[in-house]
Amino acid sequence: MKILAIETSCDETGVAVVEATKNASGVSFTVRGAALLSQAQLHAEYGGVYPNLAKREHEKNLPLMLEEALTKAGVSVAEVDYIAVTHGPGLEPALWTGINFAQALAEKHGKPLIPTNHMEGHLVSSLSHIPENHSNILENNRIFELKNVNVPVLALLISGGHTEFVLMRDWFSYELIGKTLDDAVGEAFDKVARMLGLPYPGGAELSRNARTAREKAQESFATLPRPMISSNNCDVSFSGLKTAALYALRDKGGVQTLTQEEKDAFAREFEDTVADVLVAKTEKALQETGARTFVIGGGVAANSHIRERLQTLIQKEYEDVEFRLPELSITGDNAVMIAEAAALRALNEKLPTLTEPIRAVGNLSIAA
Ligand code: KG4
Ligand code: ZN
Repeated sequence: MKILAIETSCDETGVAVVEATKNASGVSFTVRGAALLSQAQLHAEYGGVYPNLAKREHEKNLPLMLEEALTKAGVSVAEVDYIAVTHGPGLEPALWTGINFAQALAEKHGKPLIPTNHMEGHLVSSLSHIPENHSNILENNRIFELKNVNVPVLALLISGGHTEFVLMRDWFSYELIGKTLDDAVGEAFDKVARMLGLPYPGGAELSRNARTAREKAQESFATLPRPMISSNNCDVSFSGLKTAALYALRDKGGVQTLTQEEKDAFAREFEDTVADVLVAKTEKALQETGARTFVIGGGVAANSHIRERLQTLIQKEYEDVEFRLPELSITGDNAVMIAEAAALRALNEKLPTLTEPIRAVGNLSIAA
């Protein structure tokens, strides 16, 4: 089955053609052709994603990305079985561009549409693995295999817009067991990065600075609070941490007075704080749910320190739990993950029933 997928929920325009086949142990997804364009640099001057700019850029880039993906795949729209499109969660003006584009394509070529949840895309793609004999993940025809997944699965989805613990007791059945009460982890990373003078989205660069401090064993001048670390639930909160970071920098005399070493050490303290909270809450969520598989997904799942800390937790305390770490190429927003989630539903006859035209739903939950 061939799926053409379109992703425009935030500031990445993604189009992908993926072929999915079911076999005895699970499903294989072969990326026939994928195109992805990030607008991050354009949004940098606004210090965050500017919805109307995102909309304009998606409208401009969608036809180009479609062309690129189809050319790489060597297929035409007429040859695909379905067209999948992200309908939420995300920025509504951005989501609408993808939906309108997908709808027009579907009508023109008489193809069925699959409205797809962005978070389900992160989850399903993070559970999928690249077999060792296909290690070059940038190549065309790379394969992701989704097999031998033991339920219940606990997913920690961490991105610029979301931070949530999702329990999948069975395929396509989700329960939200914890979430951020305010800012998402990626948002906190980006805001503190900005305080340190790094351009948007600064999460990855902040993390590189933190690594430098860790390698040189540099300790921060300030200790940050670990918000809600001992609260008796799986919820988290990062807006107080962001404010604490702001005050700590101000009390020290402002970021402009800091040496690069001091900034690196502060980045390290911030990253340690986030990791401490995520590790503590993951432990709580694992205990509460008895999950057999743990997976992380979303842009922040690329963070090497968070990956290592969670890996240590699972290895030391939960050796019966399988930890699925996503390939780095799939953690950020892209259309391959949307194709994977949609294809999985199509192959299992779990497609949503479409009683009315697809709408963008900015706050769409995975646990409907
Ligand atoms: O999933 P994603 O691409 O987009 C959303 O759906 O939000 O996530 C983007 C977020 C940004 O906040 C970015 O700074 C963050 O992921 N991010 C990181 C790292 N790489 C990306 N945060 C911390 N460490 C990283 N290595
Ligand atoms: Zn995302």
